[in-house]
Amino acid sequence: MEDLNNDFKVKDISLHEWGRKEIELAEVEMPGCMATREKYKEQQPFAGKKISGSLHMTIQTAVLIESLNSLGAEVRWCSCNIYSTQDQAAAAIAKADTGKVFAWKGLTLNEYWWCTLKALTFPDGSGPDSIVDDGGDMTIMLIEGMKWEKKYKEKQELPDPESVTGDDEKALYQFYREVIPQDPERFHRLSKNVKGISEETTTGVHRLYQLSKKKLLPFVAINVNDSVTKSKFDNLYGCRQSVIDGVIRATDVMLAGKKVLVCGYGDVGKGCAQAFKDNHAVVYVAEVDPICALQACMEGFQVKRIETVVQDIDIFITATGNKGIISVAHMEKMKNNAIVGNIGHFDNELDMAGLKAYPGIKRIEIKPQTDRWVFPDGHGIIILADGRLLNLGCSTGHPSFVMSNSFTNQILAQISIHDPNSTYQNG
Ligand SMILES: NC(=O)c1ccc[n+]([C@@H]2O[C@H](COP(=O)([O-])OP(=O)(O)OC[C@H]3O[C@@H](n4cnc5c(N)ncnc54)[C@H](O)[C@@H]3O)[C@@H](O)[C@H]2O)c1
Repeated sequence: MEDLNNDFKVKDISLHEWGRKEIELAEVEMPGCMATREKYKEQQPFAGKKISGSLHMTIQTAVLIESLNSLGAEVRWCSCNIYSTQDQAAAAIAKADTGKVFAWKGLTLNEYWWCTLKALTFPDGSGPDSIVDDGGDMTIMLIEGMKWEKKYKEKQELPDPESVTGDDEKALYQFYREVIPQDPERFHRLSKNVKGISEETTTGVHRLYQLSKKKLLPFVAINVNDSVTKSKFDNLYGCRQSVIDGVIRATDVMLAGKKVLVCGYGDVGKGCAQAFKDNHAVVYVAEVDPICALQACMEGFQVKRIETVVQDIDIFITATGNKGIISVAHMEKMKNNAIVGNIGHFDNELDMAGLKAYPGIKRIEIKPQTDRWVFPDGHGIIILADGRLLNLGCSTGHPSFVMSNSFTNQILAQISIHDPNSTYQNG
């Protein structure tokens, strides 16, 4: 049984007053969420429902949590990134007890998966009725967990962290090795009542499609990302503001006159490229899709392969949702103090593992989430947020107004999942 009096974990609960004041400011800037609260307040569409969320625990997410809670849901929450929590937001939610929150800025990977499991586990040991996911980690934890429970039951087999490449996945496999033998029914039990999930981001949607194709998705899944009022606003205009905020808070560098390469010219890349252009930087775009590349040309950007400009660029931003975009071979050719940041969902757009393994490399922490990596020849590059999304690691993510669009879609998706008349099929 859980200790109900202490059923949350945040960095510092005394930050709650600051968090509450910022939440109150955000509510005024989030008219969609507040109107949805008002519209459905009599109906209470989530009465008796348990909702678990894995989505950056920011001030704006606090407004989402309190919207779900005000419409009847019992909510548990964690962050979907180790660096993205605003500790004052987490404290305000924990203090008001509008959700049980397990999140703080600067989680270890083991703590990350622990928080995800806590957010999935309700006090009686049951799981949620629905999930709000951002990037797919909470959903994957359940689906992979059930797979490994089955193997453990049949052959006592447990996952081998060395069989996977990414640090996050290795840590998840290690975590399964601890928790599956303790309770080999856990992930089946936590998944049992899940009616559906609503997915926030492009990368999470790609992961769901892969599961669906393999017939491994046992839940209804709603693609919130592809709502026009999400991806054409949050990904584009949200990143347009928060990419600059992240780079500036991390480095205070002058942008005018700098050469910037934006890798990926989808919704996020379009916002980033425009933002640097508006700051009078010289902007280049690397893109594999011919239509997007042509769009970049039509906007006046020079489309280049990274190899042809790597030595001249001052600031590199990856925004592809793909992996292996900037390799160590690229990094070692970069000019001294080139800034390298990723705004895509996962850190593997940059080869951070390769950089860490580079013979003789030295890491100098300038401040949390800003590091200078020095090569043996003495030249260095500045990596933002350890390769994780820089606008949430080095800054506070998108402003409230644009998140109101995204999160109104999330609330409506959740209402639709719980609508007794909806006829969605699993998977
Ligand atoms: N940090 C944030 O706040 C935030 C917000 C929204 C989305 N995201 C994430 O950002 C990423 C991009 O999202 P999006 O909505 O722009 O996706 P998108 O699919 O619209 O755009 C990605 C673009 O990258 C291009 N691309 C893919 N591989 C490439 C390669 N090897 N070289 C050059 N270009 C390549 C694609 O052709 C595409 O045009 C995703 O991981 C998404 O989850 C982050």
